[in-house]
Amino acid sequence: MTGVYDSGIGGLSVWRELAAQMPEQDYVYVADSAHCPYGDKSPDYIIERASSVVRFLTDQGAEAVVVACNTATAAAISYLRSHFRIPFVGMEPAVKPAALASRTGVVGVLATANTFKGRLYRDTVMRYASGIRIVEVVGKGLVEAVERGDVPEELIRSYVGQMTGEGADVIVLGCTHFPFLEKEIAAAAGPSVRIINPAPAVARQTRRVVENLPHGISGCGRREFHTTGDPACLIRTVLSIDPSLTPDHFHRTNIQ
Ligand code: DGL
Repeated sequence: MTGVYDSGIGGLSVWRELAAQMPEQDYVYVADSAHCPYGDKSPDYIIERASSVVRFLTDQGAEAVVVACNTATAAAISYLRSHFRIPFVGMEPAVKPAALASRTGVVGVLATANTFKGRLYRDTVMRYASGIRIVEVVGKGLVEAVERGDVPEELIRSYVGQMTGEGADVIVLGCTHFPFLEKEIAAAAGPSVRIINPAPAVARQTRRVVENLPHGISGCGRREFHTTGDPACLIRTVLSIDPSLTPDHFHRTNIQ
């Protein structure tokens, strides 16, 4: 079984790709919505939450875990890798493909404050974006809006405008919640701006990891969705991806 974890429902944008690329695999998803957003919490707090969720997932039989959250990846993936004996796949900031795709030499990255503070992001920019100007915009309020099921058009226009106003012709979705706003982000950016969602690449990487596990890709169609918070939005979003699922696939679970 593959565990998938996010601070909330954003990681479903990654699970959607995983289920499309490996439909036969078993999945248990955890939305830590009672503690969302992670974007401005301390790294220690995020490490504690991530460890509790991963412990829960390994108890459920996870043989690998996708940390489908840029913020949790930035704060906690090194800790998780050194404290659990299973492989982890994290969210790579998609700066490299963005730098290659840009013609103006200006790339916009929309992410949380903690993702920008992480070493992983800094190292990626250093390595892959030399000669490229990066316009970093903190998408404050967007994660909460997605969790509520809202589409905050005005905020989106303002954040996208900050990037396109500087000449960005590529925008990286640096938070897994943002693909659920991709249509509105693309509309605000206009047709000449390319939007990069790293989820398909992360799903391909997960496939490579799972293929190398003792059981490889195997399963019986297990689909479980746990949330530490209000299940309404999780249920709505999962059903928009896979309408065949029923109420017994969803659980409100207290993870201490
Ligand atoms: N989906 C998370 C991410 O990719 C949201 C972080 C948050 O909870 O602020 O960064």
